[in-house]
Amino acid sequence: MATCSPGDTLILPRNCHISAISAMVLSGALPKYIVPEYDFKWDVAGGITPSQVNDAIKELEMEGRKAAALLVVSPTYHGICSNMDEICHICHSYNIPVIVDEAHGAHLGFHPELPSSSLSQGADLAVQSTHKVLCSLTQSSMLHMQGNLVDRERISKSLQMLQSSSPSYLLLASLDAARAQLSENREAIFDKAIDLALEARSLISKIPGISILEFPSFSSFFQIDPLRLTIGVWQLGLSGFEADDILCNDFGVVCELVGTKSFTLAFNLGTQRDHVLRLVAGLKHLSQTSHFSQPVKDEGKNVNHFVCLDDIRISMSPREAFFATKRKVSIRDSLGEIVESLYVLIHLVFQL
Ligand SMILES: Cc1ncc(COP(=O)(O)O)c(C=O)c1O
Repeated sequence: MATCSPGDTLILPRNCHISAISAMVLSGALPKYIVPEYDFKWDVAGGITPSQVNDAIKELEMEGRKAAALLVVSPTYHGICSNMDEICHICHSYNIPVIVDEAHGAHLGFHPELPSSSLSQGADLAVQSTHKVLCSLTQSSMLHMQGNLVDRERISKSLQMLQSSSPSYLLLASLDAARAQLSENREAIFDKAIDLALEARSLISKIPGISILEFPSFSSFFQIDPLRLTIGVWQLGLSGFEADDILCNDFGVVCELVGTKSFTLAFNLGTQRDHVLRLVAGLKHLSQTSHFSQPVKDEGKNVNHFVCLDDIRISMSPREAFFATKRKVSIRDSLGEIVESLYVLIHLVFQL
């Protein structure tokens, strides 16, 4: 709302969080989607590349349109970071502001092993879910801004419109405590979490049938957050959901994110060595009790565009779709119909 007026175009990744779609409903912005690279073997989407951003700007120019802003999700839930430095450079050469959904990156830049923050790479706005990776209370987040491409007064007015006029001092105090915790020991605060994540990687890499998502599995990986560990279990004949059930019920290991072929663990300031040992014990158990098949060769062929999204056309703006009259149909009867949001469609497909 601070960067796009009704009818303006926002460039953003096709698999953005639903909050970005809601922002387009509220502002009336039109999307220009970038389809991220996708790895079928892992069933995981990557980031977006500087050349994809450049192409999107050029395509809009050919249609006589100009982007009002670019929104990037970096890091993704799996910890995959885009090359924000180059992306910001390209956008700024066209005076296009860069907004980063850094929900999973409030810790970036606070250790030499961690990728740099998007602000340090030139982003104009970065939204961080401080509660996800640092120690503030759930629902507390921060919006950072720099430079003068984005109108500060409009940011302030948009926030006034979206937020309660009675802020929670509990949440604000917890944000301040998280900030203080980082600033008091900024050089060493993540040492233990990083060491434990490296130790876990090393122990897990020796377990037969278990894969670890490493940099660079995708050509568009720029960097990966070492504190997100994505573990593939398809060689054991298990889905991420099945592995998660066993790890949770029998070993007390709670995964951050579960997918069809893998699950992701988040290491943070509260992670202890005992957690790593329980995880390794759980994975050894999975490896010993499952049917291990040989790894698939020629990994390069598994990386492709998110082809299932390629032939989806935009029939109306997110705002028009939100206010349009709708009816419910079964997923089987939905062929040829217009869906309000891809998020809803993907949700339905996974329920089948
Ligand atoms: C990529 C991404 N962006 C935004 C959000 C929303 O963050 P919050 O839950 O702090 O509102 C999430 C939540 O999971 C997310 O994964």
